[in-house]
Amino acid sequence: MGRLDDKAAVITGGESGIGLATARLFVAEGARVHLAGLRGDLLESAAGELGDSASWSVTDVTDEDQVAAAMAQATHRFGPLDVLFSNAGIAGPVGVPITKYPTQDFRRVLDVHILGAFLVLKHGLPVMRDGGSVIINSSVVGLTSDFGIAGYATAKHGQVGLMRTAAKEAASRGIRVNTIHPGPTDTQFQRDIEVTATGAAPDEAARLFETRIPLARHASPEEIARSVLYLASGDSEFVTGITLPVDGGFGI
Ligand SMILES: NC(=O)c1ccc[n+]([C@@H]2O[C@H](COP(=O)([O-])OP(=O)(O)OC[C@H]3O[C@@H](n4cnc5c(N)ncnc54)[C@H](O)[C@@H]3O)[C@@H](O)[C@H]2O)c1
Repeated sequence: MGRLDDKAAVITGGESGIGLATARLFVAEGARVHLAGLRGDLLESAAGELGDSASWSVTDVTDEDQVAAAMAQATHRFGPLDVLFSNAGIAGPVGVPITKYPTQDFRRVLDVHILGAFLVLKHGLPVMRDGGSVIINSSVVGLTSDFGIAGYATAKHGQVGLMRTAAKEAASRGIRVNTIHPGPTDTQFQRDIEVTATGAAPDEAARLFETRIPLARHASPEEIARSVLYLASGDSEFVTGITLPVDGGFGI
C-alpha cells in the first residue's frame, strides 16, 4: 500500500531539484504524475525514468494557455487530479538592493511565483477531485527575508496570501491548500544563490550558509519531498491553510 495509491498529481518545475525528488517519491507511493516545466530535455528524461506513471509537457507557468493545456493533458492521461504541487521557481537577482533592483526582474520573479501559482490554482482546482490537496512551494523567505532579494522574498510572501485565499475557497470541496517553506536545500538553484550572495566558492559559500542554520546543514531535496508527501497524503487530512517551515530552524 502506497500513501498515494490511485492518486493523480501535477508538479510544476518537475524536471529538476525538489520537483523531481517529489515526483520520484509520489510515484514510489503509488501516484501518477504529470511534470510541467520549461526544460523539455530534462522533462523527457525524468518521465522516462518514471515510466508509465508519468507524463510531461513544456509549460511556462506564466502562460495561461500553457497551464490550461497542461491540466488538460494531465487529466486526459490520468483522470481527475488529486494533488497539485506548484513548485516552479526562479531566484531573480540576489544581493541587489531595492534601489538598484531591475524592475523587469522584479516583475518576472513575481510572475513566475505568484501568477504561476495563481494559474495552477485557477486551472487545476476545477479538474481536481473533491478531497484533494494543493501544496505551493514557497520558501523560508516567504516568512522572513534578507538583504538583496526583494523580488524573490516578495513573491514567496505573496504565495502565502494566495494559499490562504485558496484554502478558504476550496474548503467546501474538502480540498486542502498549504504552503511549504524550505530552508537552504542542496540543489543547483540554491548553490548558485549562495555563490552570488557570498562571493565565495561553492563549498565555502555552502559552509557560510550552514553557520546560519541551527541544524547546521542543508536539506536534501528528498527531505523536502517527504514533507510535501505529508501534505499531499491523508496523513494531513485535517491540515489546511498552514505555512509549514522545513528549514532546520533557519527561520526561527
Ligand atoms: N533549493 C532551495 O534551497 C529552495 C529553498 C526554498 C524554496 N525553494 C523553492 O523550491 C522550488 C524548486 O527549487 P529547486 O531548488 O528544486 O530548483 P530548480 O531550479 O531545480 O527547480 C525549479 C524548476 O522550476 C522550473 N521553472 C522555472 N521557471 C519556470 C516557468 N516559468 N514555468 C515552468 N517551470 C519553470 C525550472 O525549469 C526548474 O525545473 C522553487 O520554487 C524554489 O524557489 C528552493
